[in-house]
Amino acid sequence: MSQETKTLTPNAAGITQAAELLAQGKLVAFATETVYGLGADARNSKSVAAIYEAKGRPSFNPLIVHLRDASAARRYVEWPDTAEILASAFWPGPLTLVLPLKTEHGLSSLVTAGLNTVALRVPAQPSAHQLLARFDGPVAAPSANPSGRISATTAAHVLSGLGGRIAAVLDDGPCSVGLESTIIGLDQTGPTMLRAGGLPQEAIEAALGQPLKHVDGAEVIAPGQLASHYAPGASVRLNAAHVNEGEVLLGFGNMPCDLNLSPSGDLIEAAANLFDHLHQLDAMARPIAVAPIPQHGLGQAINDRLHRAAAPR
Ligand code: TXA
Ligand code: MG
Repeated sequence: MSQETKTLTPNAAGITQAAELLAQGKLVAFATETVYGLGADARNSKSVAAIYEAKGRPSFNPLIVHLRDASAARRYVEWPDTAEILASAFWPGPLTLVLPLKTEHGLSSLVTAGLNTVALRVPAQPSAHQLLARFDGPVAAPSANPSGRISATTAAHVLSGLGGRIAAVLDDGPCSVGLESTIIGLDQTGPTMLRAGGLPQEAIEAALGQPLKHVDGAEVIAPGQLASHYAPGASVRLNAAHVNEGEVLLGFGNMPCDLNLSPSGDLIEAAANLFDHLHQLDAMARPIAVAPIPQHGLGQAINDRLHRAAAPR
């Protein structure tokens, strides 16, 4: 069903309108510091179902619930010491915590996909915080892109993927981090890295004073973990030492190339540019070669996304 997608400005009037649309059960895409999210009232199953429909997403995938602060989070989940440590250190920010649900949580079972845990995040983007405060409730929001495609880091990316399928996008410019949040599972077995993302593993381990556990791909229920994901239409070749005939080159560091993630070799800048550069190269409809990216800091999440973009489909 096609509808007009409004572009809203993140001033008081735009935030109010976005919050009212959410309260009416509509879908509103909004900027966070990581990527744009496609938001719906997390207590309203019809609205959450509309997210899956708009994205064309397999319905067994659980969603992240966005909240204004940690005290809002504690209403929904058990709160171990590790949650307190990580929330005080990194919220608001690019970190999602997966925690055991309390009974009577009131969230739609479509958000949790029937699991007894839920993924929670407090975004740092001021306009996202204002929207969550104004709406005054939990907002389910996956990344605002059609399922399996490149994540959106500008309102233009959102409109090109989901325009006509959602009520509005709150346009707050390009995302500063540019990679989805890092997801940490906190249960009896200890802190586990479920998805590499915008907060480096090293920072989380330093705050916890212990190494994170990792899960094998096979066990992971996070669909961001599906092998082919973030996929441009064209093929992607990694760790390219040279460009083949007909390819476009995505560079890193001081080198000749078609687009450069960071000419100075800065991983933070490269993360912020990653999805936008993939969108631009995708539009050229030629095979994409990617220069090697170091694996430390945000390089871990950048390489994770690039491997999924390059995976056989
Ligand atoms: O930065 C982000 O995290 C963005 C912005 C919009 O906040 N959101 C995002 O959402 O990336 P999405 O839906 O594209 O990815 C959510 C990930 C999925 O891989 C999902 O499986 C995982 O979170 N997830 C959600 N609930 C979970 C749970 N209970 N246990 C394990 N993984 C869960
Ligand atoms: Mg996504």
